[in-house]
Amino acid sequence: MAEVTKKPLKITETVLRDAHQSLMATRMTTEEMLPIVPTMDKVGYNAVECWGGATFDACLRFLHEDPWERLRKLRDGFKHTKLQMLFRGQNILGYKPYADDVVEYFVQKSIANGIDIIRIFDCLNDLRNLETAVKAAKKEGGHAQVALSYTLGDAYTLDYWVEKAKAIEEMGADSICIKDMSGLLVPKAASELFTALRSATDLPLELHNHYTSGVASMTCMKAVEAGCDIIDTAISPFAMGTSQPATEVMVEAFKGTPYDTGLDQNLLAEIADYFQPIREKYIANGRISTKVLGVNIKTLLYQVPGGMLSNLISQLKEQGKEDKLREVLEEVPRVRKDLGEPPLVTPSSQIVGTQAVFNVLMGERYKVVTDQTKDLLLGKYGKTVKPFNPEVVEKALGDRKSEAITCRPADLLKPQLPEMEKAVAPYKQQDEDTLSYALFPQVATEFFKYRQAQQTGVDPKAADKKNGAYPV
Ligand code: CO
Repeated sequence: MAEVTKKPLKITETVLRDAHQSLMATRMTTEEMLPIVPTMDKVGYNAVECWGGATFDACLRFLHEDPWERLRKLRDGFKHTKLQMLFRGQNILGYKPYADDVVEYFVQKSIANGIDIIRIFDCLNDLRNLETAVKAAKKEGGHAQVALSYTLGDAYTLDYWVEKAKAIEEMGADSICIKDMSGLLVPKAASELFTALRSATDLPLELHNHYTSGVASMTCMKAVEAGCDIIDTAISPFAMGTSQPATEVMVEAFKGTPYDTGLDQNLLAEIADYFQPIREKYIANGRISTKVLGVNIKTLLYQVPGGMLSNLISQLKEQGKEDKLREVLEEVPRVRKDLGEPPLVTPSSQIVGTQAVFNVLMGERYKVVTDQTKDLLLGKYGKTVKPFNPEVVEKALGDRKSEAITCRPADLLKPQLPEMEKAVAPYKQQDEDTLSYALFPQVATEFFKYRQAQQTGVDPKAADKKNGAYPV
């Protein structure tokens, strides 16, 4: 077995993407980010994760912001730091698979607008869904990182992860990330996992985890001692709970060891001081629920990622059924088993979560089956590690069973851009608008109308009242 080389640990800061996505449904605005960027740029992070994931949807849907404009502003501010985004493989930043031409164009534009590192994952760990994005990132001169969605279950053995890592290296990716959305990776398992991965590949290894179950910082330490090169952390006001371990804590924990990050605590303190009042504002207005702060060891039972938990809470809140949360959380692992035991990460987390909500609220399991559940059962998201529950397939699909596919799903999708170009034409002000439209046609159109109203001097809030078109 190769000896682990002891070298300074690298830190990827997540406050501008995952931290606020996990704690407060991705509502931090660009205006709240920009003033601290010059200070963050001095730290010497491995990268700042600032784009992708749910930020794109949230910008358009809730903040009336152009996500591309946000990226360009961040790129302007970060002169020395690599910018990283999270990319859902063939699902891009949306919730369903797109054709290869859309994936390629999105990668091209992400890099052209300032992204350096694209972290690409698939919700089923079906590597066929990553090929197009990895190839496109390499072609555009970007760093293609493949992230494996970490989960537990009979099928997810050490051999499973090692085989995936080798296949990722063969694909030509630049690094590998273990993405533990739910805080399921405990310290001992991390030692074993990273020891195995370190002997299987020479690619840089990164750990992305969530503090949800309370073990994340200890897990990071064990992973690093076993050969992990980079960890993801969030500055303390946006750390812990369903977010990442705190940056300052991890920097301190490795000080004086062979893994010393060398990052300056004074700079980090300045950044923490900046974000503290922002945290307090969102706690005061209820956007950060106390339910996502602190430790929830039950996550090890329910295996629900942070973002999914806050989404389930708001979904139930809208229905006035917050008291059903416990029942829904207990239904989630059952639905997951029925659907081939996928990792729970966007979009499989939404598919399983929404189906679990229906199963509980309707009082009968699979009385209502969502279109996404049907598509998953039809193989349209790719291959699950375990087979589906045949009774659920029968109830959900009936005669449509015969339509199920086993090939790479995108092989069946015709190019989608020409049609998108036509549809977006009346609103188009930049090339990137086509991609916003391709991912979220309705939401993007609402945003385009809002933008137009603003540009022509009409108060969008007044237009809002008149036709109710603009979601707040
Ligand atoms: Co995450």
